[in-house]
Amino acid sequence: MEIRLEGLTKVFTDKTGKETRAVDELTITVPSGKLVGLLGPSGCGKSTTLFMIAGLHKPSGGKIFFGEDDVTKLAPEKRGIGLVFQNYALYPHMTVRQNIMFPLENLNVSHKQALVLVEEMADLVGIKDQLDKKPSQLSGGQQQRVAIARALVKKPRVLLLDEPLSNLDARLRLQTREEIKRIQRETGITTVFVTHDQEEAMSISDQMVVLNYGVMQQMAAPQDMYNHPDNLFVAKFLGNPPINTFEGRVEKGNIIIGEDIVVGQTQAKDGIYAVGIRPEDFKVDPRGFEVSTDTIERIGRDTMIRFNLGGVAMRALLESDTVTTTETINLMVKPGKIHLFDLESGSVVL
Ligand SMILES: Nc1ncnc2c1ncn2[C@@H]1O[C@H](COP(=O)(O)OP(=O)(O)O)[C@@H](O)[C@H]1O
Ligand SMILES: [Mg+2]
Repeated sequence: MEIRLEGLTKVFTDKTGKETRAVDELTITVPSGKLVGLLGPSGCGKSTTLFMIAGLHKPSGGKIFFGEDDVTKLAPEKRGIGLVFQNYALYPHMTVRQNIMFPLENLNVSHKQALVLVEEMADLVGIKDQLDKKPSQLSGGQQQRVAIARALVKKPRVLLLDEPLSNLDARLRLQTREEIKRIQRETGITTVFVTHDQEEAMSISDQMVVLNYGVMQQMAAPQDMYNHPDNLFVAKFLGNPPINTFEGRVEKGNIIIGEDIVVGQTQAKDGIYAVGIRPEDFKVDPRGFEVSTDTIERIGRDTMIRFNLGGVAMRALLESDTVTTTETINLMVKPGKIHLFDLESGSVVL
């Protein structure tokens, strides 16, 4: 079931009359059967967007479609959605089985049918042997799987997840993230996954939407967005270690930092730009510009060097066996891997 948001807007007004545009004219299509990651810093409007899709917040403007159905004004329980939150929200006094069965209570489903559905869901999320336990007897990751099973038991048209991994420790977060991806693939349910964690979004999403102050910055497949950010905000938000950014000038197509030509013969017009180079997009090359290394850190296959270029501290992540000298290294930027952004708007120009 495709989800389409058209000019979706939410304005909150506080007691003093001050307005917050939590979501500002958001227009996106979540393709049927895909997982779209909604990504951005805290307060950028992710949950508000999800709550509007769920029907828990009333939009100030715009429309929401599930397939051809305009659901903008439809009550939450009529939308056919499954919701999963950060804090599991399981009923502590009920068993896992009772928790998963709970959404079926007021439906026209016999107890026998319900038990079969619960088994099916428990099997899907891999907790079949935990059904008689209480939530407190499970790990955080298992509790979140119960919450997912409960969200899916009514066979919703759409699955909405709001930071579902944030309460888990690093190991469980990774494991549960892979599980969610598998469950989503197996069920083919159209899913919106909210997170502030760029690595999480990159690893799990078919398509990502990046928001900042309620405004969409870009929608693209993770690798496309990483390689071709539309603006400086997206470039900086994706990647760890983060992209190196600095002011550079272009003269006759050469991109210059301080005294060094870091990339020659580009199509860029003369001027001053915000320049971005990802740490992994440098390589060692005797024809490159020379840098003095401040620190060198070998991390297995890769070596991280820190250096200074035109007064700006930078990082390069190099293949360890290419780093033969340690004090000075000649670096080049890999072809096509330099990003230029307009200084004022931040929009990409190269
Ligand atoms: N119920 C509310 N009343 C007033 N302001 C709100 C409400 N919910 C969210 N906001 C504001 O809207 C903005 C977006 O919030 P939210 O969608 O929760 O962000 P995110 O989930 O990305 O962290 C924030 O500035 C937040 O303070
Ligand atoms: Mg939130």
